[in-house]
Order: sequence, then C-alpha cells, then structure tokens
Amino acid sequence: VPAIGSSVKLPQQSLSGVEFRKPLVSEAIQIHKLVVDSGTLDENSLYCYLLLCRDFADTCVVAVAEGEIVAFVTAYRPPDRQDVVFVWQIGVSAEFQRRGLGLELLRRLVVQPACQDCSFLEATITPSNVASLGMFQRLAGEMQAGFEVAEGFTSELFGDAGHEEELLFRMGPWK
Ligand SMILES: CC(C)(COP(=O)(O)OP(=O)(O)OC[C@H]1O[C@@H](n2cnc3c(N)ncnc32)[C@H](O)[C@@H]1OP(=O)(O)O)[C@@H](O)C(=O)NCCC(=O)NCCS
Repeated sequence: VPAIGSSVKLPQQSLSGVEFRKPLVSEAIQIHKLVVDSGTLDENSLYCYLLLCRDFADTCVVAVAEGEIVAFVTAYRPPDRQDVVFVWQIGVSAEFQRRGLGLELLRRLVVQPACQDCSFLEATITPSNVASLGMFQRLAGEMQAGFEVAEGFTSELFGDAGHEEELLFRMGPWK
C-alpha cells in the first residue's frame, strides 16, 4: 500500500504542470461553473462558493492547469466533531478525469495544516456514484484507514426534489 503523498499508477506525468493550492475568492466563479458543468454535483449558489473560498479556504484545494481551475475539493471541520474533516464537494472537469486528480486533491486536503488534528474523513455519496465511492475507498486503502458506509441523508429529507439518498462514508482513524 503506497504511503500518502506517494505516486499512484499513471498520474505523475499526466499531472505535471498542475498546481495544487487554496482557492482565491476570485475563483469561486470557476468552482461554481465546474459544479454546474459536472451534471452530477448539487448546484449551490455562487454566493455559497464565495463563502467557502473566503472563510473555508484552509480546508479547500484547487487544481490549476494553465491558469484555469480544473478540479476542486471543498471541505470544512464540523464544529462539534473536531477530529473530522468533512468533504462537501469534489469535482474534476471532464477532460481531466481518471488521471488521479480527484485522489490527489484528497491527499493534499488531509495534509493541510487546518486538518492537522483530523483523523477521520467524512463525505456523503449517492449510491449510484461508483466513481466517487471508488475514489474514497482508494484513499482509505492508501492511508491504511478503515471505513464504513452508513445512512447519511435519506431521500425524504430532500422533500419533493427527487434527490437520491446520500450515504455517509466515514474513514479513519489514520493516525
Ligand atoms: C468522482 C471524481 C471526483 C473522481 O475524480 P477523478 O480525478 O476522475 O478520479 P481519480 O482519477 O483520482 O480516480 C481515483 C479512483 O477513483 C475510482 N474512479 C474514478 N473514476 C471512476 C469511474 N468513472 N468509474 C469507476 N471508478 C472510478 C477508481 O478507483 C480510481 O482509481 P483507478 O483509476 O486506479 O481505478 C470525478 O469523477 C468527478 O468529478 N465526478 C463528477 C462529480 C462527482 O460525482 N463528485 C463526487 C460527489 S460525492
């Protein structure tokens, strides 16, 4: 099992030239567009992404290629669970998928100074999203952390929106 931060199968070459860093407030608009273009992520208001980029930038990571944001992860530390980093949304633009970018964003997230006290990662995932579940499971494998999938938000909680249920993926502890 490779250690966190080490290279995985093919990506290093295909990710050369990609910069990983915190988002800027001025980049919220690009993150919002990636969400809209994904066709699968829940679209929140641009204002919401502005707040994330301003107030939660320490727990967010963007991947930048040729000056454009091509992938992002937004996360926060739930106030009542200080050992948890909760991944709110993660998205990779269609042309950059399957190059290890999503996994790399998560690796970078968990080593952010703001996540120093975290030993658990949580995210909610719809049952049909095999790509996302596979990615989080690979992270757990790399970090030699256990994981469980439990009930998260039932579809009823989304009212009449016809939203699929969200399962809670929880992995850790990793240290
Ligand atoms: C989910 C998503 C972020 C994955 O990003 P990515 O950069 O393409 O994923 P990676 O290349 O890092 O893949 C890591 C692992 O995830 C799994 N995976 C990724 N895409 C997959 C797919 N289409 N089908 C099955 N497994 C997949 C694999 O296990 C993969 O490892 P492998 O390539 O060695 O088999 C991306 O598909 C995406 O943006 N989807 C739309 C938005 C979304 O659904 N976000 C998650 C909401 S919870």
